[in-house]
Amino acid sequence: MSATNPVFVALDTTESATAVAWARRLDGLVGGIKLGLEYFTANGPAGVREVSGLGMPLFIDLKLHDIPNTVAAAMRGIARVGAAITTIHASGGADMIRAATDAARDEAAKAGVAAPAVVAVTILTSLDQAGAAAVGFAGPVQDQVRRLAALAQENGADGIVCSPLEVEAVRALCGPGFKLVVPGIRPAWSETGDQKRFLTPAEARAKGADVLVIGRPIIAAADPAEAARRIKAELGL
Ligand code: C5P
Repeated sequence: MSATNPVFVALDTTESATAVAWARRLDGLVGGIKLGLEYFTANGPAGVREVSGLGMPLFIDLKLHDIPNTVAAAMRGIARVGAAITTIHASGGADMIRAATDAARDEAAKAGVAAPAVVAVTILTSLDQAGAAAVGFAGPVQDQVRRLAALAQENGADGIVCSPLEVEAVRALCGPGFKLVVPGIRPAWSETGDQKRFLTPAEARAKGADVLVIGRPIIAAADPAEAARRIKAELGL
């Protein structure tokens, strides 16, 4: 029996035909598909269904952040599609996190599908120390990440999105059952980006990441299927 593949490939495109073609080529080589705002605003729920219809686990990454009532209503739409994972912002607060997680479970039960794992973004990794301070997150970013991770967990979230460099600290704080979804992954052979800020898939896994979000190293590769196959082999799958 093979272990579950932790890789969710980010199909960052506005074109549904492109996303469907990529998904078909990567079926069996990745653990699931991530669709984000770029895809959703171009193609809507119908476009999401074109991909979910292929039957691969789906991560709908819309990073919801609004008043609790609005987030709950939006979350019901996500749950009905049958997503495996979806995202909210922890900084929306305790009531918003609770509303999102309650709505996801309630709507999935009504629709007769599995509830999505609701994972919370803590501090966007695009914010550096100065950027985080400018929006009111005083103190070291690591402390803010830990505080927001705890808030998310206390209010029913299934996990958080965090950088590979935060995995160990959050795992120590939140325990083994908390899902750590980790972007910023670069295979050693990948030429995209600044290697120093990333970990390889195997390194991130060894630190305790549950889900590896990988975009350009797969979809911008000359042969995406071959890139996914190499990553899978590196993970011992
Ligand atoms: O960099 P790469 O192409 O591998 O990005 C994969 C995905 O991870 C993208 O969809 C991006 O939106 C997402 N991401 C994220 N949080 C970050 C960095 C990237 O959700 N801090």
